[in-house]
Amino acid sequence: MRSSFARPVGLMTVSNVSPASPVSPSTSAAAVAVSEPVSLVERLPVVPAERMVAEMVPPPRFDGVRFGTYIPDPTQPSQAAAVTRLEAFGVALNAANGSGEPARKRWFRRGPQTPAAPAYSGVYLDGGYGVGKTHLLASLWHAAPAPKSLCTFVELTNLVGALGFQETVRALSGHRLLCIDEFELDDPGDTVLVSTLLGKLVDAGVKLAATSNTLPDKLGEGRFAAVDFMREIQGLSAHFESLRIDGDDYRHRGLPQAPAPVADDDAVTAAAHGSAIGGAALDDFPALLGHLARVHPSRYGTLLEGVHAVFWRGVTPVTDQSTALRLVVLADRMYDREIPIVASGVPFDALFSEEMLHGGYKKKYLRAISRLVAMARDGAERVPAAG
Ligand SMILES: Nc1ncnc2c1ncn2[C@@H]1O[C@H](COP(=O)(O)OP(=O)(O)OP(=O)(O)O)[C@@H](O)[C@H]1O
Ligand SMILES: [Mg+2]
Repeated sequence: MRSSFARPVGLMTVSNVSPASPVSPSTSAAAVAVSEPVSLVERLPVVPAERMVAEMVPPPRFDGVRFGTYIPDPTQPSQAAAVTRLEAFGVALNAANGSGEPARKRWFRRGPQTPAAPAYSGVYLDGGYGVGKTHLLASLWHAAPAPKSLCTFVELTNLVGALGFQETVRALSGHRLLCIDEFELDDPGDTVLVSTLLGKLVDAGVKLAATSNTLPDKLGEGRFAAVDFMREIQGLSAHFESLRIDGDDYRHRGLPQAPAPVADDDAVTAAAHGSAIGGAALDDFPALLGHLARVHPSRYGTLLEGVHAVFWRGVTPVTDQSTALRLVVLADRMYDREIPIVASGVPFDALFSEEMLHGGYKKKYLRAISRLVAMARDGAERVPAAG
């Protein structure tokens, strides 16, 4: 068997790089120009703390989204209502920003607030997968004055891990807005940590916006999680206004079925070598799953640096929960980066067992399938041999 650290391919593989070395953006830029596929299994990325703060911006997929590009479903009035409310929140942030007062004074001075000031310190977007929560969260971020950050809950806990609690408070307390996507309600320790952090930030006048996952034991009951979110953030709930967004998964509105997998492994290899997209990453799926256990999930984004298309040979059903949850995180980071997938083996809707699809993490798995299918459809369109 080939060693995981065996083969440099001319760019940012870690085969000859110590695990302490960060993957540098300059080397990754070269990746795009190299036509030989890289292998994700050969990478062990490390991200310095200062880069983590600088990178707390909307992922590439949400670079260009704005309130104006969100098309509310006319049959779901809550969608247009959420846009109106968020736009007002953004306008108020800008109005307050122009007042010249320090944030803390503005939001917490006694007596009546200026009419433009948001009544709440935070908004919480509640809805099923694919209804556009991240689209709207990123639109608010784009509309807000700087300094501002947008990150996932996991990225935020990772930042606290890297900087320490007090330093994180210092780094973020001058912000006008902090957007947290995918608040993890099923992790009690980190929920307390982040709630405490958010309490400090609210005290400093930082406005918040969040989306969340749902608690495992609630998944069968419905798709909305506002009650759970408000309970988990405890003392902070009075600061949040909840906006409910009803609707269907936008990714699959009126679209055809998932594309069939590529015929065999050789066809995937050929597609990877012949892909015009550049930045191809070619891996055997079981080896990749094994490798994911050796890389902290917070680094999966860096693992994908310079990668513009992934090619997976021999996709198999995933039977154990830890592996499946790691794959969910990888799929999320790939989805953020709009990376098309070309794969052989089982189709993505057969990836997770029936037991998993009915278990505690049902929503995570269904969302991952929704995202993987969208990326496979993209792969079939953009890599002709794969279609
Ligand atoms: N109403 C809409 N109009 C235009 N584009 C939309 C709309 N809703 C969603 N989208 C687009 O569909 C994709 C899925 O939306 P998004 O990722 O924001 O959903 P989400 O609710 O955050 O889903 P998830 O539960 O997977 O996190 C994105 O590319 C987004 O820009
Ligand atoms: Mg989202």
